[in-house]
Amino acid sequence: MLKIVANKDSQKQAHVIVVGNEKGGSGKTTTTMHIITGLVKLGFDVGSIDIDARQQTLTRYFENRLHTTEKEHITLPTTEHYVIYKATGKKLIAEAEQDEHDRYMERLAFLSTRKDFIVVDTPGSDSFLSRLAHSHADTVITPINDSFVDFDVLAKVNGDTGEIVRPSVYAEMMWNQRMVRAQRAGNNKGIDWIVMRNRLSHLDAKNKRKVEEALDKLSKRVGFRIATGFSERVIYRELFLKGLTLLDLLDSETGVNVTISHIAARAEIRDLLYNLRIDSVTERLNEKSAEKKSSEAIAEPQAEPQQQIEQTAQNEENSPVYKAVG
Ligand SMILES: Nc1ncnc2c1ncn2[C@@H]1O[C@H](COP(=O)(O)OP(=O)(O)OP(=O)(O)O)[C@@H](O)[C@H]1O
Ligand SMILES: [Mg+2]
Repeated sequence: MLKIVANKDSQKQAHVIVVGNEKGGSGKTTTTMHIITGLVKLGFDVGSIDIDARQQTLTRYFENRLHTTEKEHITLPTTEHYVIYKATGKKLIAEAEQDEHDRYMERLAFLSTRKDFIVVDTPGSDSFLSRLAHSHADTVITPINDSFVDFDVLAKVNGDTGEIVRPSVYAEMMWNQRMVRAQRAGNNKGIDWIVMRNRLSHLDAKNKRKVEEALDKLSKRVGFRIATGFSERVIYRELFLKGLTLLDLLDSETGVNVTISHIAARAEIRDLLYNLRIDSVTERLNEKSAEKKSSEAIAEPQAEPQQQIEQTAQNEENSPVYKAVG
């Protein structure tokens, strides 16, 4: 078995953030890319690992980003990025798992002593690699679409009473990996698990409230924190092809018009970064906002009344931004 030997000369020990949910299409890759960009823009040195080797959406995102950099002659913040492929050609499951274990742990150790953060994107299904990655996470972020269909991988809910019947597959997996981590020699801290609500609708207030209540009950039972994540915005779907994030749109010459909806979205990303509750991140966010306040030059529109932001989000499909990116 591969042994991980910490580099004694190095002071660094990267904080590992794993973005995971066994439900496909819940926004893992979108969240991963925005967290990565947010951290790099705060001046952190970030490594990234894609263990969704079948889809490799995060890797494609970076490829598209590189293409935009070359085409538009702009500099976009990026990471040292790796893909961990599934083991092939092994006869026994144990051999295949050992192979995947060794390659993942080698990359993690390689990045760990040189980076501030390692951000890992996982597939929307259960796998050995995904479980392994969760057990080595300092923070797990689980985006869920704001719907009971997505909630089902976290817990079974009684349709009549709204009561939680029992935790389900993903919550059980998290419980198991927390145990695995706790039993690991030399480990002295647990996994901070954050469930992030994604694709929040401005319209369906009743569903929103019901999901909120159910999440609140479950969080106490299985031990996660809740973060209000990203609203439903068409722009997220469009950014992938250019490899861009909302943070790039606001800070670089990407050729895409910025709307009030994008500014509201940036505030959501900043809130999520605050919600990580990692001291170094909070410090730099505070420094940035202090710099911004004292700088008259970076004039930003005042926060719009909520109603106007909602209206803008609904009209996004017809906006020039939508056309420009498409
Ligand atoms: N807040 C949002 N508003 C609008 N669209 C979104 C939002 N978040 C994600 N999407 C879109 O939802 C789709 C799924 O997102 P994404 O690929 O990030 O999910 P995933 O969990 O990584 O999926 P998979 O399980 O297949 O890896 C994409 O088309 C993405 O652009
Ligand atoms: Mg994905």
